[in-house]
Order: sequence, then C-alpha cells, then structure tokens
Amino acid sequence: MTETAQPKPTKKVFIKTYGCQMNVYDSERMKDVLAPIGYGPVEGPEGADLVVLNTCHIREKATEKVYSELGQIKKQKAKTGGKMIVAVAGCVAQAEGEEIMRRAPVVDLVLGPQAYHKLPEMIARVHRKTGDRLETEFETLEKFDALPKQRSVDGPVAYLSVQEGCDKFCTFCVVPYTRGAELSRPVDDIVIEARSLAAQGVREVQLLGQNVNAYHGLAPQLEGDAEWGLGKLVRHVAKIGGFDRIRYTTSHPRDMDDDLIAAHGDTPELMPFLHLPVQSGSNRILKAMNRGHTREHYLDIMRRVKEARPDIGFASDFIVGFPGESDRDFEDTMDLVREVGYCIAYSFKYSERPGTPAAEMFGQVPEEVKTERLHRLQALLWEQQTAFNQSKIGQTVPVLVTGKGRMAGQVSGRSPWLQSVYFEGSEDLQGQIVDVAINHATQNSISGELVRTREVAL
Ligand code: 5AD
Ligand code: SF4
Repeated sequence: MTETAQPKPTKKVFIKTYGCQMNVYDSERMKDVLAPIGYGPVEGPEGADLVVLNTCHIREKATEKVYSELGQIKKQKAKTGGKMIVAVAGCVAQAEGEEIMRRAPVVDLVLGPQAYHKLPEMIARVHRKTGDRLETEFETLEKFDALPKQRSVDGPVAYLSVQEGCDKFCTFCVVPYTRGAELSRPVDDIVIEARSLAAQGVREVQLLGQNVNAYHGLAPQLEGDAEWGLGKLVRHVAKIGGFDRIRYTTSHPRDMDDDLIAAHGDTPELMPFLHLPVQSGSNRILKAMNRGHTREHYLDIMRRVKEARPDIGFASDFIVGFPGESDRDFEDTMDLVREVGYCIAYSFKYSERPGTPAAEMFGQVPEEVKTERLHRLQALLWEQQTAFNQSKIGQTVPVLVTGKGRMAGQVSGRSPWLQSVYFEGSEDLQGQIVDVAINHATQNSISGELVRTREVAL
C-alpha cells in the first residue's frame, strides 16, 4: 500500500536484512528512497538490478554471514554481465567499509546506517563511475530529515524509529561505534510519520531505538523547548488514533524512568510486554560489562512495572561466557532467570569484538565452557517459554491477524505478548483484531479457535 503515487517500477531491487529491528526498519526506508527512482522490491537476487545487504556486526557470526552471502551474489552478478549493482549497508559497512571493498571486489557501494538517503546519489555515481563509493559519516538527523516522511507499509504492523545510537558503551558491544551517539528525533517528525502509518491501516506500531527509553526528543510545535521522555511520547502516539497497539524496543534498565513505568499502567494501547535486556545476573559481571545497573536495581524495575501492569510479560537478552565469568557468576544468571520467569529471551555466547574493551580483558572463557553454559541457560529459558505459552490455554486472547498460517485455511497473528498465534479463519481477517480461544501451545506458538471477530469486515 502506498499513499503517494510512485512511478511504475522499471528496475528490481533485492534487499536482504540481517540483525535487529532497526535494520528491518532501515531496509523499509531504503525501499521508500528507491521507489521514486524506479526500483521495485523483489524476493531474490536473481536478475536484480540492485542488491543491498543490510548487515549486522553485533557478533562475529553475523559478520561472517555477510562475506559468505557476497560469494553467492558474485555468481548472480556474473549472470547479469556485471550490470548488477551490489551495495553493502548497515553496521558491517560502518565498521569495515574499506575492508569490504578490499575483500569483496563484487561490491560497488558501501554505506553506513546514516547514509541511506544518499543511496540514489551513490547509485548515480556508480553508473557514472565517478566519486566516492564509501559513505560512512555519522549524520543521523540529516538522514531522518532527508528520508521521505511518507511511508509505504505492508500489513497492519510497522516499525517507527524514534531514536538512534547509543552512548552506554557496554564493554562487549560494537553498537556505540557503528551507530554513533544517542540521538532522538523531534516529536513533530515522529507524529507525521505515525499519521502516515495510521492512515495506511497500521494497527500496531513498534517504536524503535537502540536505546529507545533514553528518548528525549523536542516537541517545538506542541510544547516549546521541553524535552519529552518515552512515556510521554507513547501516550501521545496513542492519542493519534488508529493504533490499537503500541510497543517499544530495545530498552536499557538505566533509562526506565517513573513516567515510563506509569505509562504501562495508564495507557491501555501499550502492550503488556517489556523487552528489557539484563545480560547477566551477576553484579560482578554487570560491573565489568559497564552496564550501570545492578541485579537488584533490575529486579526492582521488574517489580514496579508488574505493579503498574500485572499481566506484563518480560523478555531479555543474555550473554554467557563474558570474560572472567565464573561458575558462580553463571549460577547467579540462572538464579535470576528463575526469579523473573521470562516469556521469551535471547541468549548468546560472548563474541569477542575487535576494538571493544572486553576483547582486551583477561579471563576469556573457553569455547566449550561457553557452549555448556549456553545449553543450560537455553534449556531453562525454553522451559519458561513453553510454560508461558501453555498458561494461555483456556484463555481467550485478542489476536492481530497478520497473514497466512502454516496450513491451508489457517491464518496467523500476534498476541499482546508477541506470541505467534494460529487458527482457522479467512484471509479477509488480515488487519483485524479478533478473539481466539487458545487450546494448544508449543514452545514457539499458541493456537486455538476463532471465537468472534470484533469488527465489521473491511
Ligand atoms: N557477544 C555476544 N552477544 C552480544 N550482544 C551484543 N554484543 C555482543 C557480543 N559481543 C547481544 C546482547 C545484546 C544483543 C542485541 O546482542 O545481548 O542485547
Ligand atoms: Fe550495546 Fe549496551 Fe548500547 Fe545496548 S546499551 S546497544 S548492549 S552498548
């Protein structure tokens, strides 16, 4: 669906996205900048005029995937007689721009996360064979200003970037180096983009930022010089109308302020789901990670959010095998997981990232110890995830229908707690919120029977 008329595509672009939701959002925005110059999206690299790999640098594995994909792309490019333009975007581009050019000559363009608005200009330079093919400066606001304010959306769920970058400098993390310093978009710009999404039928909006709850945007047209926190922004977005569901991700315990916690209690549109990464349950390791919070502080936040919104579900990220992590430290993490009870969590082996302080630390943990700890942690987290899904059996859950199911006659959607839900129903239900009586649960999804559609058919 598009709001503004675009030229009929004459060229094909294939964008492959790796990593976090910020990248998914950025890929969508790249499609928006490319549409006016005639590029329409396709599902694979075969025969594409332009291939963009939107990359992730967070762990070593993520980076290596990019180089192996470039090997495949090379074959496709050869089939087009070398005409295909290959661009590497995202955090690997930011961190290893020069090296990509050297290691993978198939690449025509390298552009960091702040340069997407320059994509048309860079493509023109490749055609003219002039000028710089590496664009990795940090100019976040310029990027937001230059991207079209109108969005093209696909379905009832959309991301909306409100903040970029991170100044926290956790000692294991590359994000402050690849995404730059924290920066909040002005409220007025966010409102324009949000209205465009609502007008196109988006029902669920996810406010995005590397440190989204550090949001501190200005609202000159609404409130002069005052800075708004995320709680206030969430309430305002809820008032725009059209959005039944609001989420935000990813947040940091240090920025969980009283107003945001209160918003969980007073804004029904804010979904009862909080992804608040803790990384470790050991105060000693949290300190070495430079997280700026303790286990107790984190648990206190969880308690207060739960008080504000009793049906809240918690999610987190964990790293095992951070340098110096002892058996005891790891047991503290296991213990914290048991205490909180997560509905979903993501866990990773510590991956050494060149240039970060942790890469230089003593006490790097052997690979087999990391593997063993990860298995134990994941077994516990999966048990909790399954138990959480099973707890919905016998309940009627509001489901936003997003697409087809896995079997014929089935549709799928998402619950308030971001669970995938499957049930038998018509594809016409897409975009509606319907009630589903849950009668089955697995580790990764829940399913049941349609009880009622609450809305008139569109
Ligand atoms: N090694 C392993 N996991 C990492 N993460 C970030 N950096 C690293 C690293 N060097 C994880 C954190 C973060 C998530 C997005 O990725 O858990 O929250
Ligand atoms: Fe990385 Fe820490 Fe910033 Fe999150 S808060 S992006 S883990 S430095």
